Amino acid sequence: MSKRVRTAVFPVAGLGTRFLPATKAMPKEMLTVVDRPLIQYAVDEAREAGIEHFVFVTGRNKGVIEDHFDRQFELEATLESRGKVAALEELQKDLPSAGRTSFTRQQEPLGLGHAVWCARDIVGDQPFALLLPDMVFRAKPGVLKQMMDAYEESQGNVIGVEECAWEDVSSYGVVVRGDGPDKSFAINGMVEKPKRDEAPSNLFISGRYILQPEIFALLAEQTRGAGNEIQLTDAMQTLMSQQRFTGVKYEGKVYDCGSKLGFLTANVVFALDRADIRPGFIDELRKLDLESEL
Ligand code: G1P
Repeated sequence: MSKRVRTAVFPVAGLGTRFLPATKAMPKEMLTVVDRPLIQYAVDEAREAGIEHFVFVTGRNKGVIEDHFDRQFELEATLESRGKVAALEELQKDLPSAGRTSFTRQQEPLGLGHAVWCARDIVGDQPFALLLPDMVFRAKPGVLKQMMDAYEESQGNVIGVEECAWEDVSSYGVVVRGDGPDKSFAINGMVEKPKRDEAPSNLFISGRYILQPEIFALLAEQTRGAGNEIQLTDAMQTLMSQQRFTGVKYEGKVYDCGSKLGFLTANVVFALDRADIRPGFIDELRKLDLESEL
């Protein structure tokens, strides 16, 4: 149980139906917050947390994600010949090392639990991180890093949680909080997309997990849950009778970039965070005279 977490899984097979028509031919994971695709934020966060192997569960029309994590010699040569050293270095910095990515396919959209199960042979018998790339965090250190620090102590399974408005609980998985401080407390139960009046808390699972490999055997049973999908939350609830689950209410905030509002807000917040963009962006926002719009 005390193995180091070296591998991260990124489920990127989702159809992106909440973001049509943008996602008709383009993967939703390639939508950009400022100038970086959503998937790049998740990979950067994983790398910061010490992840060495990046496993993508893809689907049809997702080939461009694979290209994004490959070298682009023509582009690199052009940048070099034009002396655009900073852009070139940025591209090279973003790349995982050779041989440290794997791609497998979820052939049918049967749910998050099924997507994770599709990575079982690549992950093997070791703990792994799971990052849902729709969910982009403004956090320092990154949320997965904060969870890794908690994992050093707790071992077992670790789930990142954040409070949401009670009217939003039915959009997420929600946990039952047990004993312990916010930084690292016991989770005694969880439920996927509960009705507001049946939700055990407003602490929602915000898309970052550290899981033990025993989850795969439970996912293999492929029981359908909420929305008639194979739910990861249901398999975790079952695993809870055998293994410890720890909740980490991390420092930071998530933006649900699978929703238009979350995505737009993330773009504003991340643009304001960028020293190279902030001054000009503030000027433009002033010109919009938002006060009179609000
Ligand atoms: C999935 C999980 C849910 C979690 C959410 C975070 O739901 O099943 O527990 O709260 O991601 O984004 P989905 O967004 O795939 O419906």
